[in-house]
Amino acid sequence: MRTEIANASFRGRFVLAKRYIEEGEVVAFHTETVYGLGANAFSDEAVLKIFALKGRPADNPLIVHVHREYDISSLIDSEPPYAAALRSAYLPGPLTMVYPSTGKVSKYVSCGLNTLAIRVPSSPTAQAFLKEVDLPIAAPSANLSKHVSPVTARRAWRGFNGSIPLILDGGACSGGIESTVLDCTGDVPQILREGLVTREMISSVAGDCKVYRAQTGERPKSPGMAYKHYSPRCRTAYFTEVDGAKRAYLEEKEAGGSPCILCDSDAARELAGYDILELGATGTVMAQRLYALLRKGEGCATLLVGIEPRARDGCMAGVLNRMRRAFGAEHGMEES
Ligand code: TXA
Ligand code: MG
Repeated sequence: MRTEIANASFRGRFVLAKRYIEEGEVVAFHTETVYGLGANAFSDEAVLKIFALKGRPADNPLIVHVHREYDISSLIDSEPPYAAALRSAYLPGPLTMVYPSTGKVSKYVSCGLNTLAIRVPSSPTAQAFLKEVDLPIAAPSANLSKHVSPVTARRAWRGFNGSIPLILDGGACSGGIESTVLDCTGDVPQILREGLVTREMISSVAGDCKVYRAQTGERPKSPGMAYKHYSPRCRTAYFTEVDGAKRAYLEEKEAGGSPCILCDSDAARELAGYDILELGATGTVMAQRLYALLRKGEGCATLLVGIEPRARDGCMAGVLNRMRRAFGAEHGMEES
């Protein structure tokens, strides 16, 4: 199968995407967070294809994506008032909401859970695609399971060239890390995966917001968070201080390797003469750059040395979660 990357100059790309989706194919598409790998959520066969393509564990549920005018009342059983308020405040946008499911979509979407995760992406490319198909589209990030999520069409193509027919190119993803996943089945909303919509943003609308932390040995509420994830394909080391990172770097150099350090702008100033990949100084910028730099690092380094960024503003909780997990410094939840 030839995999076509279709950008805005390809008129008729959404009509073509709709045809593929109706035929049960899988189509990759741009969102404002990362690229997604989408299929018709009502079709068992199409949904199973996603799991097979990614090598995704069968117990890791998928998010369903819909356009802004799609009526989700047939998909969900109930919605607390705070969830309706959050929808009007932040959707379309990088916030996924988990509701009690009516069980209308394929049972493989939620992997046996009685809930359904719904997301309304703000990307114009995603909106145009979802509007054209007018179906809920089940879509995980468009990477092979356990690998770094793609933030460009080219990166999605590298993972799935030859196995899907079409990638809807909307350029680089402005958000850079996956959406916040929020459990809306209880009295108080609970973050299952931190992301660009922060706890503070949710509390300010909902009055309160908890953050879920899996207890050791417990099956996590968001099963995706149970596996190692976001891993670059080279050796890694992780430090909270610059000195440790320098030592690991120099040892690797002496052993004949080519190390590289991934760090924020503050640490970068202390690392003149070292090979570095600079994340930036704020949460928003670091989120935007993290996955592209992890991919770059794995392509050129024998050892990628991470230094924990110091900033704690905005979406840094999400950035730190992804970074610690990429470097194997935090376990608990898994994605794919
Ligand atoms: O930004 C995003 O969310 C991207 C783009 C493509 O939309 N998608 C994405 O999907 O990151 P994925 O499959 O890589 O991660 C989905 C996360 C996993 O941690 C999964 O376990 C959780 O959402 N999830 C899905 N359905 C759930 C449910 N019913 N209850 C709890 N967690 C759920
Ligand atoms: Mg993923």
